[in-house]
Amino acid sequence: MGIPVLHRLALNESPYPPLPSVREAMQRAVAEAHRYPQFHPDDLTELIAAWCGVTSDNVAVGSGSVGVALQVLRAVARPGDAVVHAWRTFDAYPLLAAMVDARPVPVPLSPDGHQDLDALLAAFDDRTRVVVLCNPHNPSGSLVTADALSAFLRQVPRHVTVLLDEAYLEFARDPGLPDSPALVDAHPNVLVLRTFSKAYGLAALRVGYGLGAPDLVARIRRQQLPFGVNAVATAAVKASLRAESELRLRVDTVVAERERLRRELVSIGWCVRPGHANSVWLAAPDPVDAGAAALTEAGIEARHYPGEGLRLTVGDRNANDTVLTALAGLRAHRSASRT
Ligand SMILES: Cc1ncc(COP(=O)(O)O)c(C=O)c1O
Repeated sequence: MGIPVLHRLALNESPYPPLPSVREAMQRAVAEAHRYPQFHPDDLTELIAAWCGVTSDNVAVGSGSVGVALQVLRAVARPGDAVVHAWRTFDAYPLLAAMVDARPVPVPLSPDGHQDLDALLAAFDDRTRVVVLCNPHNPSGSLVTADALSAFLRQVPRHVTVLLDEAYLEFARDPGLPDSPALVDAHPNVLVLRTFSKAYGLAALRVGYGLGAPDLVARIRRQQLPFGVNAVATAAVKASLRAESELRLRVDTVVAERERLRRELVSIGWCVRPGHANSVWLAAPDPVDAGAAALTEAGIEARHYPGEGLRLTVGDRNANDTVLTALAGLRAHRSASRT
C-alpha cells in the first residue's frame, strides 16, 4: 500500500472549501437541478462584465479558463497553424493545440524561469496564429511586467491572437503588474483569460472567462457549448462575488504563507526566486528529485518535473509546515552525508 496523501499541493488549488454562503447558494441551485441552465450564460456574463468594469460584449464565459482557451483556439486556429508558448508552461496548452490539430511551438524559459519574450517573438512563422503568455507564470511564478508586456504586444502582428492567461492574477502583489483589461482596447488581438478556480476556490465547478475586444469575443462565443455553464456553478460564482471581501482575506493569507514558505526555504538552503502565483518553484540544481521523494514520504502530493523542478502549491499553515520539515530534513541529511 502506498503512503497516504495528507496534503494535496500538486494542482495549485485553494486550501479552503467554499464559504458557507457559497455552499448555501449551491444547495439552493441543486434543488432546481431538473431545470436546464441558461442556453448561453448571459446573466453570468453581464455580472462578470459589471464586476470587471467592461461591457458584456467584452466577456466570454466558459467551462473553466481551459474551456475558454479551447474556444479561442477553435475560433482562430486552423489545422497546421502554430501555437507558440513557453515551455514549461501550464500543461494544457500543447494538449489544446493538438485538439484543434494545430502545431504547438514550445520556447524554452530563460534560466531564471521567465518567459523569454524575444525568443517567443523569434519563434513566429507565417502559420503562427496564437501566442500564449502566462502571467503570473505556471510553474515558475515569474511575472511579465506592464512595460515588458506593452513592448511585446507592440511587436505581435494583429493576425496573431495573444492568449494572456491570468489564472493567478489575484495572488500577484507587484506594482509592475499589467492592467490587462485596459490593454484590450488598444490591442484587439489580446484575450485575457481569468478563472474562478484558483483565488475563488471553485476548481471543481469549471467557470472561467475571457476579456477581449467585441469582435474577438463574438468569435469565441460562437464556440460556446449550449447549456455549457451549469446552474450550480453559476450560483456559486454569484455568491462568491457577493462574498468577495471574505475571499480576498483568504487570498491575502495564501500570499502571506507563500512569502513565509519562500523565506524559510531560503533559510534552509533552497534557492527560491520570488513567485507571484499561489505556489513556490524549486529548481535544479537544487536537489529537486530527492525533495520530491521526501515530500511523498511525508504525505505531500507536489508537482514534480524530474531533473528539473518541483512546484509546491501554497497550502494551509499545517501543510506548509509539513513541507518545511520534510525539505529541512533532506538538507540536514545531505550535509551530514557529505561530512
Ligand atoms: C496557468 C493556468 N491557466 C489555467 C488553469 C486552469 O484553470 P481552469 O480551472 O479555470 O480551467 C491552470 C490550472 O492549473 C493554470 O495553471
